[in-house]
Amino acid sequence: MADLSGFWNLYVMVLVGLSLAFCLFVLLSNNKRESGPVELHGHVWDEDLAEYNNPLPRWWLYLFWITLIFSIVYLALYPGFGRVQGALGWSSVGQYEAEIQRAEERFGPIFAKYRDMDVAAVAADAEAQGMGRRLFLTYCAQCHGSDARGARGFPNLTDGGWHWGGEPAAISATITNGRTGVMPALGTALGGEGVRDVANYVRSLNGLAHDSLRAQRGADLFQQNCSACHGVEAKGNPMLGAPDLTDNNWLWGSSEASIIETINQGRMNRMPGFGEFLGEDKVHLLTAYVWSLSRR
Ligand code: HEC
Ligand code: HEC
Repeated sequence: MADLSGFWNLYVMVLVGLSLAFCLFVLLSNNKRESGPVELHGHVWDEDLAEYNNPLPRWWLYLFWITLIFSIVYLALYPGFGRVQGALGWSSVGQYEAEIQRAEERFGPIFAKYRDMDVAAVAADAEAQGMGRRLFLTYCAQCHGSDARGARGFPNLTDGGWHWGGEPAAISATITNGRTGVMPALGTALGGEGVRDVANYVRSLNGLAHDSLRAQRGADLFQQNCSACHGVEAKGNPMLGAPDLTDNNWLWGSSEASIIETINQGRMNRMPGFGEFLGEDKVHLLTAYVWSLSRR
């Protein structure tokens, strides 16, 4: 609506008005009742097909009148004539909202039933878990996978390793408000050798093959450049979404090359918020479902 500024509003009104006036003009000018002396128009097709100037058939003309009247009535009732709302006040947004509200009234109580139960109790309820699973398949599976095991850059929600915390309150906050994990690009600060050293240190923390000389040098670099977010012991910080770098659980890959890429380029990763869209009751069901996934 907003971009239908003064000019476009007028433009649409003039266009609609002119089209209707033109239709009216064509109709009136063909409205003669009597067929005068039958004459040929003078147009000839396909050697001998000629056109007479007979009046249009009545029923045909009436159809045109009806469509013209219909369009005027339509424009009086519904939006279409520039910014004029129409007498019924109908809008696609309004219709959408009314449908949503009807669905809320019908299905709302089914979801609300679990509102006051704590997450563990909801997770133990087979019916609630079924709903949670269906919600997950509808809204979350495209990113996290239908088995919730994620993919590169999209966290696995079943493995018990959390960037933002795995307690019910943390999961609920993640789903409600979304999260943005930002790992800064530190390639230039560390230099090529420094990045390799610290990458080897990170691999050493996970019991992965590494160059121990590099890892030793990398330990200092880690304290200086990384510990503010990942912690002195590299156990991560859920306040920042900085992952534990000692649990051999990887979002972007564990190879030296992947870790070097993470440090060089940084990572910016966003989980969209669903609180407003789904409402508290559905978020609660989803929280219980996600919480239970890593506890099976
Ligand atoms: C558009 C893709 C996308 C959709 C849809 C999506 N997520 Fe996410 N989600 C992500 C990304 C990316 C992250 C990682 C954010 C980060 O790295 O900080 C994430 C993170 C999470 C986390 C935090 C994991 C952790 O380690 O702390 C949870 C929990 C989660 N999502 C649950 C859900 C649920 C439940 C839904 C469905 C309502 C959902 N997500 C829908 C992309 C998505
Ligand atoms: C400003 C905070 C911050 C600093 C400083 C930082 N990181 Fe990160 N790091 C993060 C966050 C947040 C993520 C998660 C990114 C995401 O959600 O995908 C991350 C992710 C990573 C990952 C990917 C883990 C995986 O599962 O694939 C590695 C490896 C990593 N950091 C190593 C380092 C190293 C090494 C340094 C120091 C040279 C460092 N980080 C400095 C915040 C930080």
